[in-house]
Amino acid sequence: MTQSTLSSSNGKITRSRHVDTPFVRNCWYVIAWSHEVPDGGLFSRTVIGEPVLLMRRADGRLTALLDRCSHRLAPLSIGQREGDTVRCAYHGIRFDATGRCLEVPGTERVPPGLDLKTYPVVEHRRWIFVWMGDPALADTALLPDNHSNDSPDWVNQPGYMHYEVPYLLICDNLLDFSHLSYVHATTLGGSTEIARARQHNEPVRVGDRQVGVRITREVKGVPASPYWHSFRPGLAGDYRRWFHYDFVLPGVLLMDSGGHPMDAPDDVARTVRMHSCQAVTPETETSSHYFFQQSCQRQDFERAAETPQRMHEVLLKAFVEDRDMITAQYRAILATPDLPMRPVALDAALGQFRALVERLAQAEAR
Ligand code: FES
Ligand SMILES: [Fe+2]
Repeated sequence: MTQSTLSSSNGKITRSRHVDTPFVRNCWYVIAWSHEVPDGGLFSRTVIGEPVLLMRRADGRLTALLDRCSHRLAPLSIGQREGDTVRCAYHGIRFDATGRCLEVPGTERVPPGLDLKTYPVVEHRRWIFVWMGDPALADTALLPDNHSNDSPDWVNQPGYMHYEVPYLLICDNLLDFSHLSYVHATTLGGSTEIARARQHNEPVRVGDRQVGVRITREVKGVPASPYWHSFRPGLAGDYRRWFHYDFVLPGVLLMDSGGHPMDAPDDVARTVRMHSCQAVTPETETSSHYFFQQSCQRQDFERAAETPQRMHEVLLKAFVEDRDMITAQYRAILATPDLPMRPVALDAALGQFRALVERLAQAEAR
């Protein structure tokens, strides 16, 4: 399904092919961090335009339902939990965790057709994933390897950010780290050499299916990242820095990054190793969710006696830099929707990823 992006910032509908947003349905979308869904409560978030209600049953299992009462479409998320069931706050119809309608006030027998749509849902390493496509195709083998989210070897603080832009513009940003040199000059970057380094791209496959793009970027003879000083102060001299990551459907980044001194590659005390998991989930055609964590090795924190909060603050500053730039880009595109973009070599990976999304979305539409 390809959906055209619409903008109404000035009251007029604007279309631009640069921000057309195809949604692949048959994949796992990150909908929440585990801690966001409270025991005994109700949590709602919209994914590819569908409002999804999450609730934890008494035994800890999650359930995901369409967050619309089948009677007159009130959001169930403002209703009441009654054990493992939810009662609509409008006229009191009650549903169980499988979406079955149990009770309609004033009626002896529940009429047919009131059951709710349900979604396959999985909690995997502190991320909650929903499958928005055909439930029969939901396959946990397709979940990403987001191990650093909850590994004892890594320390991190979970983050979330909301974007008022189509999700593919955020994916573009994550598929091309040349922007670190400019957008993040004083945070994640620190050298224009990052933009000059060649990026190697190859497909990521599960079996014979392509599920993403594997990216390698290395840069030699550059200073330590300004960001590293937030948790490893005092790193001096020239470094070799690396960014090795997979960017997989529908928009998940899994990255090993770091650096070591050029003159002492084996100097563990001056080497930085990090792992990051980030997920972009479309909320609507024109808005997106961004879940992220950047992990540092536990021993680095112990050595530097720093806290994950300090690291998180700098990371957040950098991700606000991204959001400011991408939002400015989106507004500019909408203001002049017919201007062409001119691709350059930097765009190879995002071109591959967009082609993959387009191909799968079109196949699903057929
Ligand atoms: S809208 Fe939910 S009970 Fe009427
Ligand atoms: Fe960035």
